[in-house]
Amino acid sequence: MINQRLNIVILAAGRGTRMHSDRPKVLHQVAGRAILSHVIACAEQLGPERVVVVYGFGGEIVPQTISRPDITWAMQAEQLGTGHAVQQALPWLNRDGITLVMLGDVPLLQASTCKSLLTHAATCLALLTVEKPDPAGYGRILRNANGQVQAIVEQKDANDEQRAIREVNSGIMAMPTARLIEWLARLDNQNNQAEYYLTDIIAMAVADGVGVVSEMAADEWEVTGINSKQDLASVERQYQRQTAAGLLQAGVTLLDPERLDVRGDIKVGRDVSIDIGCIFEGTVDIGDNVSIGAYCIIKNARLGNGTTVAPYSHIDDAQVGQDCRIGPYARLRPGSQLSSDAHIGNFVEIKNSQIGSGSKINHLSYVGDATVGREVNIGAGTITCNYDGVNKHRTIIGDHAFIGSDSQLVAPVTVGNGATIGAGSTITKNAPTDALTLSRGKQITITGWKRPEKKI
Ligand code: UD1
Ligand code: CA
Repeated sequence: MINQRLNIVILAAGRGTRMHSDRPKVLHQVAGRAILSHVIACAEQLGPERVVVVYGFGGEIVPQTISRPDITWAMQAEQLGTGHAVQQALPWLNRDGITLVMLGDVPLLQASTCKSLLTHAATCLALLTVEKPDPAGYGRILRNANGQVQAIVEQKDANDEQRAIREVNSGIMAMPTARLIEWLARLDNQNNQAEYYLTDIIAMAVADGVGVVSEMAADEWEVTGINSKQDLASVERQYQRQTAAGLLQAGVTLLDPERLDVRGDIKVGRDVSIDIGCIFEGTVDIGDNVSIGAYCIIKNARLGNGTTVAPYSHIDDAQVGQDCRIGPYARLRPGSQLSSDAHIGNFVEIKNSQIGSGSKINHLSYVGDATVGREVNIGAGTITCNYDGVNKHRTIIGDHAFIGSDSQLVAPVTVGNGATIGAGSTITKNAPTDALTLSRGKQITITGWKRPEKKI
């Protein structure tokens, strides 16, 4: 549902000096996606009329990388502080509405937390705070004797007494846009960082008699800002912990929830088991009764019901049918499609190929640009020679064919249904149906031959 009156401003112009990187901070990744993309995803869940992202350091790289035409991009050429940053978004804001300010470096914020904050923002300044065991680096919340918020003081401007305060500013706040416009016009940069602080509007609201309502985030991790590589690593871990908790909740068996990485979207059926050290990327759809061994990397793939993936297998852009057996050490490259009951064993690479049901390629083979029928047995060390140095060609193998070990099928070539290829053959012409085809020098024995002896 679109909330006509809600505008969201995301601040993402900062360099991120403490990251020690040439890349703009908000483009560093959490769970395989830009930090900023996580914030945008949260903003979207609130159904805003408009999302304005303030960008600056790194220039057009930020909008280009995020690549979202539905977002309004406001340039902050010089990073003069968070208040100055919000000012750059003002031309796009609906004066009659509410503005929610989010920070582009706080990626784990939950939409439910924002929704709750927004219930106060029609008339008040609503501020999300959090209690941090170690508040270093954050703005501290100053309250009066009655517990009412009076102001925020930044770490660098705070005295010792203020620095001892553990309730800090999350940076997330919402208020009537008309008020925001008035307050921003009155900001100055008389502070230890010579910046226009957004946080100074809290004291202005208090002075103007506008209520300041604060809510505390339920979980501290939700509002962790990423300022350093240490923060990035701990936010990544936290994200993965949440994902693992969600999978456990859904009934997945995780041999160790601390050793799982999901960098994308994973969908799971019933009775799925995942061993340690697996990485899932992109969109992965796992059926019922699937078991995945240790240290597999699975990206943009679908695994049918009952399939087993043994350890150290890589699956990338592939569709795997039901009851297949993959690995250990198998590699399914883009365009691999396996029908049910296919077996792909150790050190086998499949690319851009369809493998029919019940077919087996169990050892040390390369099958690329091939169409393999049903119940085919491909012996150890078989290679489809699909590339002539310029073009790729297809190999077609009919149902019930048997390819002897260590054969090369030089494409374009067709092996008929029920054909047998003798071991060690180099097949350059089509092999007919139901016949034995082989290309091999005849075996001879030289009698009386002696092994060479060592000369002294
Ligand atoms: C800010 C808050 C602090 C709060 C903390 C929470 C201010 C003055 N301080 O501090 O109270 O506890 O966030 O994480 O608001 N940015 C711009 N343009 C600028 C400056 C910053 O777009 O000129 C963006 C940055 O890209 C970043 C966000 O604003 O995404 C926060 O800036 P940062 O410099 O990280 O502020 P903090 O020191 O963390
Ligand atoms: Ca920050």
